[in-house]
Amino acid sequence: MENGNYVLQIQNLSKTFPGVKALDDVSITIKPGTVHALMGENGAGKSTLMKCLFGIYQPDEGQVILDGKEVKFANSRQALKAGISMIHQELLPIPYRNVMENLWLGRFPQFSVGPFKFVDYKKTLNDTEALFRDLNMDIPPKVWVRELSVSKVQSLEIAKAVSYKSKVIIMDEPTSSLTEHEVAHLFGIIRRLKSEGVAIIYISHKIEEILNIADEVSIMRDGKHVGTYNAKELTTDQIIKYMVGRDLTHRFPDKANVPGDVVFSVKGLSSAKPSSFKNVSFDLRRGEILGIGGLVGAQRTELVESIFGLRPVAEGEILIGGKKAVIKSPPEAKARRLALVTEERRVTGVIPMRSVKDNMLLANLKKYVGPLGLINEIQGEKDVQDNIKTLRVKTPGSKTFIRDLSGGNQQKVLFARWLLTQPDILILDEPTRGIDVGTKYEIYSIIIDLAKQGKSIIMISSEMPELLGISDRIMVMCAGKVTGFLDGQKTSQEEIMRLAAKFD
Ligand SMILES: Nc1ncnc2c1ncn2[C@@H]1O[C@H](COP(=O)(O)OP(=O)(O)OP(=O)(O)O)[C@@H](O)[C@H]1O
Ligand SMILES: [Mg+2]
Repeated sequence: MENGNYVLQIQNLSKTFPGVKALDDVSITIKPGTVHALMGENGAGKSTLMKCLFGIYQPDEGQVILDGKEVKFANSRQALKAGISMIHQELLPIPYRNVMENLWLGRFPQFSVGPFKFVDYKKTLNDTEALFRDLNMDIPPKVWVRELSVSKVQSLEIAKAVSYKSKVIIMDEPTSSLTEHEVAHLFGIIRRLKSEGVAIIYISHKIEEILNIADEVSIMRDGKHVGTYNAKELTTDQIIKYMVGRDLTHRFPDKANVPGDVVFSVKGLSSAKPSSFKNVSFDLRRGEILGIGGLVGAQRTELVESIFGLRPVAEGEILIGGKKAVIKSPPEAKARRLALVTEERRVTGVIPMRSVKDNMLLANLKKYVGPLGLINEIQGEKDVQDNIKTLRVKTPGSKTFIRDLSGGNQQKVLFARWLLTQPDILILDEPTRGIDVGTKYEIYSIIIDLAKQGKSIIMISSEMPELLGISDRIMVMCAGKVTGFLDGQKTSQEEIMRLAAKFD
């Protein structure tokens, strides 16, 4: 094929960070009007490659050719100008600005009066409304971004990327927080962009999604390009094999836990927020894995955050070991041996400018303080190293800043943080979001193992196979209400979906 047939040619790109060769001689070509998926395990180099295309990083070696001409971007503004836009894996909106300000920041429509320039707010509002109408999105333009749900923020980022009318749109895990319905909507937008000749580079760990939307799939492993394949000729097993470098025949470990007596109950719990969950009751047994299914907006996160003392409740009670427990703050929850691993690591979990070690030990510092107030560095380091190993955290060392880890690896550090507190009841909110298939298996094994040791697990998940794969029971919620309980080993995706969409 001639050069002219590619919109983007990535040639021999290499990029080294201290201690890691993130990209090693990567060459990939992208055709206009196609969806080109990029897959690979956590830390394989996908986001780094995209940041090199988008001008956030400069490659050490190699060229990027856009429309037949070599380009070198010093920053992302230049990339946007040349026709490349990007939806970032880590959502970075400005919380205390409204939706339209986030959308048009740095490029507001202006009008002049004599020598003076003013922002044209009327046009800004009109443009915003026109954009949302065109994309069929329901986001209020004047609301503060911090008021939006994660899925709306993600939709906003999608709208923003589309608004630049670029030739190439990079989407780095765009669907990680979207509902199934919103994913279908995004795919509609992608198909339309494709028909207009736009090339989409699409990063996701969700294989089903890739096989549905992609034309070509490039796979990376350890910073290297493994190969590019026609999506129609690929199977799930092949993708996994190319990514992991070996066969992975089981996606879920065998269940080995046996639920015992009830150790934790929630009775008639209602949120203090009228629009949130209402009258939720459930029991949790020792050694049980209770899945919570539902669509985004089912109020599952609000529910577990309220149980954990992060949000006020209006009514209802929590019983631990048969006794009433009042939990008004996370430290109180921790004292009762509860732990919560949250969904949105940027907002509630990671401290970017601290080391992997600090981030991992954070919830558990007391354990490492000796009788004289001295910190037991050796035990701390040992625990950190053990967790780096079992969770296969890809990092040059325990002292590396966590913000320098790939997204999925940051998630693993948070998971380790709560494991180290040795909770009796571990609440997980989308624990494998953004985590690659190989490591998912490790995380499932750890969850099942904990349950086998008698710990109880509550797991919110939007991934049906995951709910079905490891839950003993599944509680399904819809619009803040519990719509049913299912036997995890006997039910089906259809049954969960039916309850998840049971609006009244
Ligand atoms: N700014 C940085 N400084 C140091 N190391 C970095 C930096 N950015 C990325 N890395 C390292 O480069 C490697 C590739 O990371 P990258 O974020 O590209 O992975 P990824 O394929 O996007 O993974 P994920 O699926 O988890 O998002 C990782 O080992 C990561 O720790
Ligand atoms: Mg990434």
